[in-house]
Amino acid sequence: MCGHVSVPGDKSISHRAALFSLLASGPCSASGWLESQDTLASLNAVKLLGAKFSLKDNHLELEPAKQCSLQSGDLEIDCGNSGTTCRLLCGLLAGWLPADRPDISITLTGDESLSARPMSRVVDPLRSMGATINYQNNEGQLPIRIIGSALTGTRCQLKVPSAQVKSALLLAAVFATKKTTVQGAGSSRDHTERLFATMGLKVGGFPGTGDLSFERQQKPGIYNLEVPADPSSAAFFQVAAAMIPGSEITVKNQSLNEGRAGALQVLKRAGATVEIFNRRGLPGEELGDVTISFSEQKPFTISEPEIPALIDELPVLAVLATQARGETLITGAADLRVKESDRISAMTDNLRKLGADIEELADGWKIVGPTALHGGTEKDPVVIETRDDHRIAMAFAVAALVTEGACALDDDACVGVSYPNFWKTWDQLLKRA
Ligand code: S3P
Repeated sequence: MCGHVSVPGDKSISHRAALFSLLASGPCSASGWLESQDTLASLNAVKLLGAKFSLKDNHLELEPAKQCSLQSGDLEIDCGNSGTTCRLLCGLLAGWLPADRPDISITLTGDESLSARPMSRVVDPLRSMGATINYQNNEGQLPIRIIGSALTGTRCQLKVPSAQVKSALLLAAVFATKKTTVQGAGSSRDHTERLFATMGLKVGGFPGTGDLSFERQQKPGIYNLEVPADPSSAAFFQVAAAMIPGSEITVKNQSLNEGRAGALQVLKRAGATVEIFNRRGLPGEELGDVTISFSEQKPFTISEPEIPALIDELPVLAVLATQARGETLITGAADLRVKESDRISAMTDNLRKLGADIEELADGWKIVGPTALHGGTEKDPVVIETRDDHRIAMAFAVAALVTEGACALDDDACVGVSYPNFWKTWDQLLKRA
């Protein structure tokens, strides 16, 4: 597999570029914005709340809603499959909805997968700031209804080092009457803190601890962003390049944000050649061109402190481990069980079907390689159950490259959540190989 890949804009930053317009003091823009099912859920949310936008060739211009113009009653916002849309909106809306209008509410709903994911991790700390958020059916799950409230600050210790939860609290903190302190965010991605800085909102940090503070009553400005390529989407091509002899893949303009660069470190440890060119800064983010080339794979260990910086890349790194000579151990990743699917069991079940030597742990996997993976016949392929999870589907596109015989995905359309053009780009690269 050889060549240059043009990977779409970062999903996390694109969500924030849409949602934070609710805070902005004037028009904002983002070029290289990712247009995918997930990020469109965020854009649709701000549209329903009164923002105006134009989107052409991935350039997003936003005219924020000046203030809440909702009439009395309840507005439903469908977050689709997107945990980021839903969890960030919880924090944002808790403060953005007027505290003196209990007759206005917003109900957040989602698809089957999102409706089964835990929401108490974000709802509990927001309630400690005074937020009014109520579960409509099952405790701890969507749908949830939000009513505006006067928010105070909070001092909160996160139960999981989640960027989504940290971001929800920081968004609520913009409306709070006292300082907010968040502890235990670990090395989770810091796109919210960076975009806040671009908007003139100062987040205090405690270097190396992942602890943050936000002083009350800061006034948000605007942003004009360039969104770098998404390292989580790039990882599928990069792991493929690391595994297939003779490969060399370059991804241009990839985010090098430390909170996202964990997979590159693992690829290096696993023996791949990783070269970074044109390292440069954009307002708020760092990026560069990344070339990965094949070399003999070594096993690797990933443990808890490193997890937040590569959480979304773990499925494809599990595929890499099947081709490394020796035992790979991935632990500390129990949160993978509550992503778009239970990714620990999804990877175990499907890799096992292909003959991998993989043991499912409560919080990760033990994988022994190298294994020659084997599929079925053209008529009777091994069917991979994606569980409607985009990252499982793309991880098995990579696994198929090292599988003798045929395997087929039960659903290939689910990649549209984060990477609508994935198959087109993938097929083009394979043709060139
Ligand atoms: C995200 C944070 C991560 C990640 C998700 C996107 C974000 O989730 O898995 O895909 O944009 O903040 P957690 O923060 O819950 O770990």
